[in-house]
Amino acid sequence: MDWKEPDMFEPAEHGNKPFSIRVPALVVSRGARDQINFLTAMWFTPTGFEPSRMVVAILKRTLTYQFMLERGEFVMAAPTDKMMEIVVLAGAVSGRDVDKWKAGGLTPVQGTKVSVPLIGEAIGNVEYRVVQQIPFDEEMDLFVGEVLATHVRKGAMEGELYREDSNPLLYMGTKYNHNGKPLGKFYAHLAGIERTNYDSPLLKKYLPGKK
Ligand SMILES: Cc1cc2nc3c(=O)[nH]c(=O)nc-3n(C[C@H](O)[C@H](O)[C@H](O)COP(=O)(O)O)c2cc1C
Repeated sequence: MDWKEPDMFEPAEHGNKPFSIRVPALVVSRGARDQINFLTAMWFTPTGFEPSRMVVAILKRTLTYQFMLERGEFVMAAPTDKMMEIVVLAGAVSGRDVDKWKAGGLTPVQGTKVSVPLIGEAIGNVEYRVVQQIPFDEEMDLFVGEVLATHVRKGAMEGELYREDSNPLLYMGTKYNHNGKPLGKFYAHLAGIERTNYDSPLLKKYLPGKK
């Protein structure tokens, strides 16, 4: 093997930084006494095709954690880019201090399987039942949610893809100036969708006839 020096890379201070492009989610939960709450989540991953499950890490200190235990069900809502302010609020403030649902002026929509509402303004909502709670570390547990029902905004998707003219919130992150001072959260819009080049030499050779 002709190893090269890693001149094209530079170290990053955050372990998983190259994977910061990911759709943020709102995890909606409901307490035993019917309070509705939601937090902003980025530590999650869909796992498996059928049945599809979701693994999401939830901090023990959050109100969401308490509500997940109280009802054993939750909804994950995919926000639109118009919901960025709500996403920032939900990640910075606890439902113990602020009624975030009311503050965000969100529309509760009845799901089909769980008693937790869908978010009417979201581009998609998924209903889950907690099937596993996996201890992770001092700070958080992993919750595994089994998908019970999926709701996508009418006309927003084609097959597995969002349509080019739809507006999912694609990703968000903090920008810093050259002194390391945070300049606030920034976010990205969906700018275009391209077809994979199946006629490329690589795919023609190894995946012939595949579409
Ligand atoms: C971009 C971003 C991503 C976050 N991801 C998660 C996450 O995946 N899991 C989690 O427990 N908290 C996460 N947080 C922190 C919670 O959103 C935050 O602690 C929230 O205020 C908790 O709300 P709650 O007490 O109402 O449940 C994230 C925060 C931000 C800003």
